Amino acid sequence: MCGIIGYVGHQQVQNLLLDGLHRLEYRGYDSAGIAVLEGGQISLTKKAGRVQELGHAVAEAPLQGHIGIGHTRWATHGEVNDTNSHPHFGGDGEICLVHNGVIENYSTLRKKLRERGFEFVTTTDSEVVAHLLAYEYRQGLEQGGRVGSQQLCVDALQATLIQLKGTYGLAVLYRDCPDTMYVARVGSPLVIGIGDHENFVASDASPLAVHTEEVVYLSDNEIAILTPDDVQIIHRDSGAVDLKIQVLDQSAGDSELGDFPHYMLKEIYEQPQSIENAMRGRFDEDEATAVFGGLNMTAKELRKVDRIVLTACGTSWHAGLVGEYLLEEFARIPTEVEYASELRYRNPPMSENTMIFSITQSGETADTLAAMRECKRKGHPTLAICNVVGSTIAREADGGIYLHAGPEIGVASTKAFTSQVTVLTLLSLFFGRMRHLSYPAGKRIIRHLRDIPAQVEETLKCHEMVKYVCEKYARYNNFLYLGRLYNFPVALEGALKLKEISYIHAEGYPAAEMKHGPIALVDEVTPSVFVVPKCGIYPKVISNLEEVKARKGPVIAIACKGDEKIAELADDVIYVPDVEEYLQPLVTSIPLQLLSYHIALHRGCNVDRPRNLAKSVTVE
Ligand code: F6R
Repeated sequence: MCGIIGYVGHQQVQNLLLDGLHRLEYRGYDSAGIAVLEGGQISLTKKAGRVQELGHAVAEAPLQGHIGIGHTRWATHGEVNDTNSHPHFGGDGEICLVHNGVIENYSTLRKKLRERGFEFVTTTDSEVVAHLLAYEYRQGLEQGGRVGSQQLCVDALQATLIQLKGTYGLAVLYRDCPDTMYVARVGSPLVIGIGDHENFVASDASPLAVHTEEVVYLSDNEIAILTPDDVQIIHRDSGAVDLKIQVLDQSAGDSELGDFPHYMLKEIYEQPQSIENAMRGRFDEDEATAVFGGLNMTAKELRKVDRIVLTACGTSWHAGLVGEYLLEEFARIPTEVEYASELRYRNPPMSENTMIFSITQSGETADTLAAMRECKRKGHPTLAICNVVGSTIAREADGGIYLHAGPEIGVASTKAFTSQVTVLTLLSLFFGRMRHLSYPAGKRIIRHLRDIPAQVEETLKCHEMVKYVCEKYARYNNFLYLGRLYNFPVALEGALKLKEISYIHAEGYPAAEMKHGPIALVDEVTPSVFVVPKCGIYPKVISNLEEVKARKGPVIAIACKGDEKIAELADDVIYVPDVEEYLQPLVTSIPLQLLSYHIALHRGCNVDRPRNLAKSVTVE
């Protein structure tokens, strides 16, 4: 949430910052702003609305300079307007900063600063940091510090940071420092890009990939000092830190839209490839199992695992639910799926050999990170199933499995879900083969998995039918999504997709639970989306479907090709390939993604930037 970009070097900074903000916009799009330092003066332009609005504003009054910071906001404190947009000035303009995170003690600090004569123009928590830094800088000057000296600036920043409670990623300009930018983090991600006589900072790597391949991931409690020719990092407790330069695993083109009208559609269409990538190099045909390079645990340790907890939020939580079914069926390990936002404050009993997997696309979700840290504190092995390489969760986990799905830019998660489910299938094969699963059974799973990318490709052919169905149903305001067993999480995920990008009320339920309450909602204007591919309890799901039809509820069925009977029962049918029951989420989720996409388009919604949401939820 919120995107930060900063640059110091030889290029004119305005357009570079704007381009960076466009690439970061998926992290928040309530407002945007940039500040540029030139000739001892910091100039600033900020606007409520999209980065595009900011672009229009600076086109009329360009900002000149070679050092600058930018921000795209997802509002936490203070309404969305021009004034509350970042960057924020501190003091009488000697400080200018952008902030991603939440300062929990902002009101106490603001009161103190007001008493000291600082005037606040915004209602944000971030302006408090700017004024506090100005105060500490002035204190340093009074105590004999040299104007604009690095020592003074670092000391003032340190003195400020120790007073903050909460989370922050900060990029700071001091009016007295014409070629130095200071950045700091606790809890909110920052990546430094190392260039040739230029250096960058950003909330994630997406805006850096166009400029450099070399990055350094900043850790909590570190401050970085960036000049055109140097990057230094200092840890709050341990002093200077060696730069661990890593090579980016993404290229600039990975985040381009190409010929697609929206990222969401592009990412839906990438799924045959992203699923393939999640499996690449992870089969051991001789042993009929899966292999993972990064679990960092011995076979002996892994065999001791007697319980698995999968923790995640949102779509990743839904993938976890599929994982629970898979792990219990194939590995016979008792598995639970926990909302990370609950687990972080709960204290469930966990045996010594409970293993925790945090499932996360971004690797930055605040609740998932906190739940993982809590479990780690208690001594459990904590592993991550994560997409973004170098993200905080990926780095802090004891080990993990990357999805290799490539950047997911659309705010509604699509390809990450199917990649997570793929990895969880591999994981159940892996644990299964360490325990009860036979060699032929392992071989069979591998064979089925190898067929999946082509079957997902085949599934995408339902697109035209989905469009037709959307024409019919886009005007309805309530939907039910129903499925059983492996397709229950798919129903939840379908409902979430519709809610988040179409703003239509939708409920996901296990189909048989209907009659315990939700069936009361069924009427002629409440369509039910039944996920009903062939499975062991197919006739039972059909009975549930008939119950809805008997109450005049319109039914859209997601069914297996060749299922003639369903066409007689449902109002509309979207067919998907007939795959093994445990792999059905990988195909049945796809028409539901397309359904929400087209309904959102029909209703004129912004599919890639739905209201009130942002990718990467780095606040609690
Ligand atoms: C829904 C969606 C969210 C995320 C959730 C967790 O489409 O994208 O529900 O799944 O915020 O995010 P990650 O997976 O990045 O931890």
